[in-house]
Amino acid sequence: MKLYAQVRWPGYFPLSALLAASLYGQDITLPAPQKTGGMPLMEALAKRSTTRAFDSRDLSSQQLSSLLWAAFGINRPDGKRTAPSANNKQATDVYVLLKQGVYGYDAKANQLNLVLAEDVRKLGGTQSFVTNAPVTLVFVADLSKMGGGSEEAKRNTANINVGYISENVYLFCASEGLVTGARGSVDRAVLGPKLKLRPDQAIILAQSVGYPKP
Ligand SMILES: Cc1cc2nc3c(=O)[nH]c(=O)nc-3n(C[C@H](O)[C@H](O)[C@H](O)COP(=O)(O)O)c2cc1C
Repeated sequence: MKLYAQVRWPGYFPLSALLAASLYGQDITLPAPQKTGGMPLMEALAKRSTTRAFDSRDLSSQQLSSLLWAAFGINRPDGKRTAPSANNKQATDVYVLLKQGVYGYDAKANQLNLVLAEDVRKLGGTQSFVTNAPVTLVFVADLSKMGGGSEEAKRNTANINVGYISENVYLFCASEGLVTGARGSVDRAVLGPKLKLRPDQAIILAQSVGYPKP
């Protein structure tokens, strides 16, 4: 059951419009992701790179929806995703850190479920550049979904699962004229409680997305 009212978010609205409308504390239904077009793959590969300087300008809701779909959205009727996962366990949760709060990406419902109505973007990394980026994604492994095996084996698999998702984000950003940077340097002890993680969930990687700094 949802604890919060839900708001539909038209594609042309920038994230800041949400702020202006004071829609804090609510789940957000995203516009449908754009699944066609984009840059030819080889050109996107040629442009893929890590950026550590972001403009503070917001993404549009359409860009955010397409970004999340590219990262780890559902791309087939059987519920499989844009990134592979070991045994199709889909054991990675994508958390989205925005100005207006922390959300969990629900790929099936194409919505953002509110976790915390607080701007914790600065906790998405230990380097100062993270604060400026409008969006930071945090990839969290759900070890409880990964079946048997040692903790070490599960964490190895979790790292590989997240690598595919992170590369999807890199290629989407290259294609969209956005910039991005993956980050292993995250203070997990501080960010974990803000994401309300259970002991069997582990922060694997953070990745900021935005426009290049002019
Ligand atoms: C697993 C992983 C962790 C990373 N962690 C950080 C990080 O904490 N801080 C950072 O500035 N860059 C981080 N990076 C980005 C790398 O430094 C970057 O990919 C590398 O310098 C190569 O640059 P390129 O991505 O532009 O090819 C990370 C990349 C990966 C794959």
